Amino acid sequence: MKTINVDIKDVLSTVSREDINRLDGKATEALDKVLNATGAGNDFLGWVNLPTETTEALLDDIIACADQLRATCDTVVAIGIGGSYLGAKAVIEALSDSFAAYRSGVQGEPKVLFAGQNIGEDYMFELQDYLKDKRFGIIVISKSGTTTEPAIAFRLLKEQLERQLGVDEARKRIVAITDAQRGALRSLATEEGYKTFVIADNVGGRFSVLTPVGLLPIAVAGFDIRALIDGAAEMEKATAEANEQNPAFLYACTRNALYNAGKKIEILVNYNPKLHFFAEWWKQLYGESEGKDHKGIFPAAVDNSTDLHSMGQWIQDGERTIFETVISVLEQKHEKLIPSDEANLDGLNYIAGKHIDEVNKMAELGTRIAHVDGGVPNLLITLPALREKYLGQLIYFFEKACGISGYMIDVNPFNQPGVEAYKRNMFALLAKPGYEKETEAIQARLK
Ligand code: PA5
Repeated sequence: MKTINVDIKDVLSTVSREDINRLDGKATEALDKVLNATGAGNDFLGWVNLPTETTEALLDDIIACADQLRATCDTVVAIGIGGSYLGAKAVIEALSDSFAAYRSGVQGEPKVLFAGQNIGEDYMFELQDYLKDKRFGIIVISKSGTTTEPAIAFRLLKEQLERQLGVDEARKRIVAITDAQRGALRSLATEEGYKTFVIADNVGGRFSVLTPVGLLPIAVAGFDIRALIDGAAEMEKATAEANEQNPAFLYACTRNALYNAGKKIEILVNYNPKLHFFAEWWKQLYGESEGKDHKGIFPAAVDNSTDLHSMGQWIQDGERTIFETVISVLEQKHEKLIPSDEANLDGLNYIAGKHIDEVNKMAELGTRIAHVDGGVPNLLITLPALREKYLGQLIYFFEKACGISGYMIDVNPFNQPGVEAYKRNMFALLAKPGYEKETEAIQARLK
């Protein structure tokens, strides 16, 4: 079976095998907490068995809904923020043609756009302007059903869709994904009679990409969600035991050994521009799960070789508090060779006839060697190809390792109390009803 692989040999000049193995006990306890729901946040472990427990009926329902949107829309806007958008965006970008956004969307092959992931006035203006002559549909996603950013975007786009198509037709092109009972979005969906999918209570936002939250937009974009789930199910089985054959166990132990050795920042490195948003998804997963009680590895990311010409200097030569986790994609989808040129004015004939990816792989290898020599330990994760099955494996691998790793540093990996602080201040500043005292206090501070 082709699968993702984790190689730790390039960290061993910084931490020894013993340093890593010493954490086996902690990691075993942590994995036990994940599998047997005995740790903090154990009411948010619905994602653990999700791949093997996803029913055919649910997949059929998601695919039928996606087909319906594909048949009637040239553009589908997925509205959501954080865990309610990053997973879908990551998978769609990884699998799509790099120029899909510039090709005109057609029914049957709609463009998937995103909204509600920011509060940019220009972004919303320009999106609405773009949509004014489009046959668009909306997937609105919010687990809590009360998040401000997606609520603003939905209010605007719902009104636009109703204006462009009439209320009844608009209703057929809106799908809501939210809590089974709670929240403003659930009440609105019930009132309007939208098609809905449920985000289970026990699956947190950043662990929800393999639920309808991620699966519906991915299916609308035309990708094989069954293969994605199959890959994740393979990884669910491969990460069930507490030993180093379990790649999530190995990754969790290694990154924590590096953390204990003063490596406080982990940079996820890719050499394929299609993985940019995968890194954004990963940053949220690890940042929101581990950054608590003044602990946690800071998750950063670079896209190479692009960022070798911007961040490369710092990584090679800056403060030695970092380690890298490189995602290397073995097989490319397309072939493109470097042509020979008789005049050879650019001096490139020495690589003529080679695949562009061969040059990329040498950039990757050369950089890894240079960084290890420069004191930056490197973990290497290889992915056979950018296909649904391997992305499913990679997603589940990172989720499982995140649960283990969070418990290893004694935090609750499944809450996000820190996210509330900005909301409290924003609501106070906007004088939201119910926040009168906070409004008074914050206004006094600003005088
Ligand atoms: O991981 C999380 O729980 C968060 O990042 C949420 O996904 C994000 O805040 C969006 O929340 P909601 O889906 O409730 O709108």
